[in-house]
Amino acid sequence: MTKFSESEREKLPKHVAIIMDGNGRWARSRGKPRLFGHRNGVKNVRSVVNAAREFGVQYVTLYAFSTENQNRPDEEKSGLMRLLEEFLKRELATLLKDGTRLRAIGDLSGLPKFAQEIVESSIEKTKHNSTSHLTLALNYGSRQEVLSGIQSYTREILETGKSPDQLDWSTFSNHLETRDLPDPDLIIRTSGEFRLSNFLLLQAAYAEIFVSPLHWPDFNRDAFIEALQNYIQRERRFGKTSDQLAPINQNSITSIAP
Ligand code: FPP
Repeated sequence: MTKFSESEREKLPKHVAIIMDGNGRWARSRGKPRLFGHRNGVKNVRSVVNAAREFGVQYVTLYAFSTENQNRPDEEKSGLMRLLEEFLKRELATLLKDGTRLRAIGDLSGLPKFAQEIVESSIEKTKHNSTSHLTLALNYGSRQEVLSGIQSYTREILETGKSPDQLDWSTFSNHLETRDLPDPDLIIRTSGEFRLSNFLLLQAAYAEIFVSPLHWPDFNRDAFIEALQNYIQRERRFGKTSDQLAPINQNSITSIAP
């Protein structure tokens, strides 16, 4: 078992967000249908979530279905929703045992009723957990999230008579769906693509990005550890210079922001 030293553990990310890409290519390279890749991708979720919990990464967010994925063939979309249902049915007991709170970001009303119901009931059943946090981005798109946030903030100023000039980031971020989550420290994307694909665009302002050449079904515990090892070597400056950081040598924006 790979262990991080005490001082390395302190530098580990608090929140890792993952763009699980490459299921289709993984399946195609084996002469199998795309859903075979997605099925193997779901199997992999458990090992990565377990590894995160083991190393004290408190928050994991998975990009499971984007607003743009709605344009995929119906057969693939309904297959993905069935996989989501199976995953939640199978994992609920583990989430409860491990004290993991499930959340979702994205417009759940755009999912089929059965998927919406199981997501909502799993969220409800785990809502008192606080050891770790698993968030599924489902029918999620960052631009849509920002537009909804602007609509929500605009309603607030119309109702309260506040001036739009009072808006600052901390107020606005409370109108985003991620209001209960810290910003991601590390974003992992598999399958060798260097894109954010409409995922947590504002929250990623200071995230470190790690791109793995592996397709998601092959991105195992060891690959996750490699991403963490890479992350702890990085210097997160948050706009400051190295010299300014040296005396405090801190790893999180929360600890250096006033
Ligand atoms: C990207 O691979 C993957 C997706 C669009 C879906 C990711 C979903 C899962 C792993 C399953 C559902 C998740 C949970 C947590 C139940 P791709 O199909 O775009 O791959 P390609 O780029 O090689 O075609």
